Order: sequence, then C-alpha cells, then structure tokens
Amino acid sequence: MKEELNKILESAKSEINKTGSIHELQQLKSRFIGKKSGLMSFMKQISSLPKEERPAFGQLVNETKQKITNIILNCEAEIKESDYKKTLKSEFIDLTMPGRKHEKGSLHPITLVWREIEDIFLSMGFDVAEGPDVEDEFHNFDALNTPPDHPARNLSDTFYIENDVLLRAQTSTVQVRVMEKHKPPIKIISPGRCYRNENDASHSPAFHQVEALVVDEGVTFADLRDILNIFLKKMFSENISSRFRPHFFPFTEPSAEIDIICVNCLGKGCNICKGSGWLEMGGAGMVDPNVFDMLEIDSEKYTGYAFGLGIDRIAMLKFKIPDMRMLFANDVRFLKQF
Ligand code: DAH
Repeated sequence: MKEELNKILESAKSEINKTGSIHELQQLKSRFIGKKSGLMSFMKQISSLPKEERPAFGQLVNETKQKITNIILNCEAEIKESDYKKTLKSEFIDLTMPGRKHEKGSLHPITLVWREIEDIFLSMGFDVAEGPDVEDEFHNFDALNTPPDHPARNLSDTFYIENDVLLRAQTSTVQVRVMEKHKPPIKIISPGRCYRNENDASHSPAFHQVEALVVDEGVTFADLRDILNIFLKKMFSENISSRFRPHFFPFTEPSAEIDIICVNCLGKGCNICKGSGWLEMGGAGMVDPNVFDMLEIDSEKYTGYAFGLGIDRIAMLKFKIPDMRMLFANDVRFLKQF
C-alpha cells in the first residue's frame, strides 16, 4: 500500500514540476487530490481494512495528500513569480529616457487677422454676426436681388450640395439673415468662410470674407468711405488709402470695387501690385432698395451701406505671403512664423 502511495506521490511530483501554467496546475490538482482522484478512491478502501489498521492507513493517505498539496503550492508560487518577472520585463519603463516634446502651437495667420478685424470694428461700435456655411439659394442669391439667370448661380462657380442647398459663395448671406431678424439701426460685421469653385495662387475653393452692413436713417456713401478708410489705416498703416471703381453687384446700387494703395510700394508700382500701385480688396455699395423691400425694411425711410473684403488677402498682404495656398497647406514650419 505504501508503495502504491509512493508511486502516486512520485508521478504527481514529476507531472507537477513539468508544468509552467496555472491553468494546467489546476487540472493536475484535481487529477491528483480531487474528489475523483486515484488518491481519494484509495481512501475508500479504508472500510475494508481491519479496525486497528485504519488510523495508520488514513494518516498515510493524508500525509501523501499533504505532500502533493505542498508540491502544488510551491509550484504555484514559482509560476507566479516567473510570470511576474516576465511582466516586469515586458512592461519595463526606462525612467531615465528623455520625454516626448510637445511643441507650442501658434495662431494661424487668418485667425490673427480675423481677430484684429473684429477688434477694430468692435471699437467702432459694430456687432459681430454669424450665419451658416451651408445655405439656401434664397439667402445666397434671391434675397440679394440676384436674378435667376445670373452667371454667379452657375454650377461651375457655386458648390451645390443638392437642389437649393449650397455652400455659401459670399458672406453677404449674413446681411439677409441679420435683416430678417433685426430692424434698423443695424451695424454689424460678419467674418466667415465662403466657397467657390476656383483654385490658384490667389484663389482657394474655401476662403474667408468679412462682410459689413450698416442700415439707419441718413446713412450715406461718404460714411462707407470713412469707415473703410479708418479700418484700412488701423489694419495696415496711416499711409494706406482707398479708391472706389464703379462696378456692379446685384444687391447694391451704386456699387464699387475697393482698391487700396499697394501696402508694399505705397503706390510706386511693384511686383505685388503688378506695377499699378493699387491692390483689389473687395466690393461695396449702398444697399439696393429691392433688398430692403424683400426683407420688409422701409426703403423710403432707411438707407444702408455694405461691403465685403477678403480676409485671406489682408493676411497675405500683412504677412507678405506670396501664395494663398500656403494658408491652407497646414505646414507647421510655415505656420510657426506668425
Ligand atoms: N459679396 C461680394 C463678393 O463676394 C462682395 C461684396 C460686394 C459684398 C458688395 C458687399 C457689397 O457687401 O456691398 O464678391
């Protein structure tokens, strides 16, 4: 009997010491000392023994069970220890390594100019208004007195999303949104993003404009020129003045294109102004009474002026950026300079 128990002990020893996994160890545990193990069925033979031999037999079986239990516990401790060491090794962190550098960012030149524009106009009593980039034809064209056959409605200029839904091609849409909600006096600017199907060194399919709208009794073209000149001098320098060239916009009458003295050569003529001494900045005019009528503003009582300037253009001139596409290339080396 003793021999048989020894056999069990030896085979348990060799099997248990072979294993390297906790899962396998659990299986071995139930195989060698579990309820259905050989050792336990051995224990059942106790009833067939003479009474006086039973205690010694029981003790022997228990001792064997205890020995196997100890082997299992030792093995378990060893496996856990080696697993722990493996984890420590694989998750090792070298605290002496230099850290990853997080470089400080900088504001985009358009953001800088956008903010400066807002500051200048806020200081002159304007509010800042906003409108959606995704617009409908009513706000982008109809309410701005743009006839159905106007070339600007053409698919090749305007990005249509679906019938009647488009990406606004001008911030003039916000004029409409403001006049729908508020009655005069109105004095707002609205900087924002616009979209047109064009792409070269001085045009980007997504670009930025700032719109201005002033409506009140007795507003004149002279007020428009005054405010624009104050703005331009604050934005660029005291030497900068403007000139108006007659033009046509559906929503203003009379309308004009705004040029400013070249900020680079101050009118002498250089490569930036292509020798003319002047730079184109945007459009302006007196709000067409048709627009007022459509938005139920009394065109007999009120007059207004409006203008739209290119923010990207201002940023390019201010920071001497030669190609508009640089503003949208997201090259950090370029953007860091501002
Ligand atoms: N919306 C015009 C454009 O994108 C610019 C413009 C012209 C805006 C005249 C105005 C304006 O407010 O009065 O070309």
